[in-house]
Formats: sequence, C-alpha cells, structure tokens
Amino acid sequence: EDIPSLAAAFADYFPIGAAIEPAQTGGLKAELLKKHVNMLVAENVMKMDAIQPSEGIFKWDNADRIVKFAKENGMALRFHTLVWHSQVGQWFFKDADGQPMVDETDPDKMKRNKELLLERLDTHVRTIVERYKDDIRDWDVVNEVIEPGDPDGMRASEWYKITGTDFIATAFKAAREAGGPDARLYINDYGTDNPGKRDRLYELVKGLLDQGVPIDGVGHQTHIDVYGPTIASIIDSMKKFAELGLDNQVTELDMSLYRWNDESDYGDQIPDHVLKAQADRYGQLFDALKANKEIVSAVVLWGISDDHTWLNGFPVTRTNAPLLFDRQYQAKEAFWAVVDPSKRQ
Ligand code: G3I
Repeated sequence: EDIPSLAAAFADYFPIGAAIEPAQTGGLKAELLKKHVNMLVAENVMKMDAIQPSEGIFKWDNADRIVKFAKENGMALRFHTLVWHSQVGQWFFKDADGQPMVDETDPDKMKRNKELLLERLDTHVRTIVERYKDDIRDWDVVNEVIEPGDPDGMRASEWYKITGTDFIATAFKAAREAGGPDARLYINDYGTDNPGKRDRLYELVKGLLDQGVPIDGVGHQTHIDVYGPTIASIIDSMKKFAELGLDNQVTELDMSLYRWNDESDYGDQIPDHVLKAQADRYGQLFDALKANKEIVSAVVLWGISDDHTWLNGFPVTRTNAPLLFDRQYQAKEAFWAVVDPSKRQ
C-alpha cells in the first residue's frame, strides 16, 4: 500500500521504534515494521526472568531472534531492561540456604545478602552487555525505581530493601565497564511528567551523577491517554533533565482511549470523536518532540498496531486502540496527524 514510511518522515529528527515479540519478526507484522520503524525493543524477551530464569542459566534464543531481525533490516535496538522489580527470577532474592533475603529482624544477614545480591546483579548485567554490546547502543539499565508513595520516594522493591540505591549504581557501573564509552545508559520510568515523580527522579539522578555513576539519559515511557497529561508537561520534564546534561528518549509510547482509572470498554464501537482526539494529541506530541529534537534522541512506540498491545489486557480485558495502526494494519487518523496532517479525514 502506498503510504509514507513513519520512520522516513522523521529521518531528520530521531529514529522511530517499536516494541516487538519474537513471533513478530515474520509475516505481515514484520513487513509493517520494516516499512515504518528503524529501531526495535523487545517487549518481554530481554527482561531479567526471560534471559536468566535461574542462576547461571542464560537463555538467548528469543532475544537473539530480535537482534538478528534488527540487524538484517538495518534497525537500531534498545535493550529493555537490565534491572526491574517485575519479571525477575525470584532466585535473585533467595540466600545461599534458599531463604528469602529480605529479613528485617536480622540486619547482619541483610548485609551479607546485599553483597550476594549485588554480585548476582553485576554478573547478570555484564553477561548481557558483553554479548550484545556490538549490536545494541541504548540500554534501559534500571526501570521504574521511583515510587512517590513509598518511603523516600523510592520503590520499596527487594532491590531497594536489600541494597538501598546501591543496586542502581552497581548496574550502571557494570553496564559502562562491559559496554564501553559508546554504550548509552538510561534510567527508565513512567509518569515522568508528574512533578512529584519527576523531581524525585531528578534528585536521584543528580545524586548518582555527583557520585560518578555513569548515567547518559532518562527514558520516558510515555504511556499516556487521550485525556492527559499535557504535552507541555512531558516536554518540560525532558528540558529539566537536559539541564543536567542528560539525553532523553521516549521509550514506550502509546495513548489509551480511556482514562487510567476508567474500566469501561467501547468494544467494536469506538466513537469517532475519541479517535479524532487521539489523532490531535498524537500530532501535537510529535510536533513538540520535533521542535525539541536536540534533547530527544529516539521515540519508541510500545507496539505497532492495535491488535497487539498490553492495553487490550490492562487494567481489564477490553478493546483499546493506543497505537498508530489499526487491527488490520491500516494507518489510523493518528498516523496521518503525525506524518501528514493534510491527509487527515
Ligand atoms: O510468558 C508467559 C507465557 O508462558 C504464558 O503462557 C502467558 C499466559 O498468561 O503469560 C506469558 O507471560 C506474559 C508476558 O507478558 C509475556 O507475554 C505475562 O502474563 C504478562 O503479564 C506480560 O505482560 C507484559 C508486562 O510488561 C509485564 O509487566 C507486557 O506484555 C508488556 O507489554 C509490559 O511492558 C511494560 C514494560 O516492560 C515496562 N513499562 C510498562 C509496560 C506496560 O506494562
């Protein structure tokens, strides 16, 4: 079909990426991706539990499939994610006796556990970065460590309970040592437009940079919806991190048709005005990103077409349509708003 390429439309600005599963490296989905994106990220198969499900057992097949597909098609890659509190093998947090590491009644034990956990993390990070350093430049080193509702504003994950913020420093240092000076290392999170969360993230990153922790940029997931947040708040956050000398990337962009706490379902009757509002907002967002291209080095969507998106299953199973292509892989109004507004219906 004779429509322009999304990535080509942004060639003078930044690469455009999409999250994929290994199965999407074949068939019609692969053709859609080859035409429209020049960067990929694994939606699941490079997460901690996928690569190292038990200690010392590394599973590369699925991750390798995505790396191979990207290389064959001249696409860049982002790595997602070296550290996360979710989708992580629970073996990480068990001590040598198979007991849970988190034990607030025994600080000495926690201390011993801390060393062991940081050692395991160091091995995980180095093993992966060494394998892919020639193929992958941009790395989500840690994901979602800020949680304004938790003590200190840091997510009360096992990582944090056992090591404080040392797991973050360990992961970035290991990634830099294994990946060398050209690796680009990101701290990734959602809701970075929210002033409370943004400021806590800023404070954390500034503190780490002051200690010499090698952080190159902030990944802004940008899971937004038709109603919010404002485009200005997204850009303002990027400007704030740019003042620290950091790069910004949009890492998981999608735009739900529903407010996050609204569990309704349009089914197969998505109102036209909702899709128009989505197109308007997508257009405004990409215009703003273009206007700020010197502080944004990539824009990655969390999928390519509405048939495959986590938002069809979260927070409830329903019809969502957060991406630029519909379930039949046809360009939506949002696509035209982004690529060529004169072609909008
Ligand atoms: O792999 C198992 C499979 O063996 C099993 O048969 C199947 C049955 O449910 O589940 C499969 O695991 C699913 C996994 O995706 C792989 O498909 C999990 O149930 C499912 O919960 C998981 O969801 C992923 C989610 O992260 C988990 O937290 C989504 O696909 C993925 O889009 C989503 O991505 C996250 C980013 O990593 C971080 N930012 C937020 C974003 C959206 O939640």
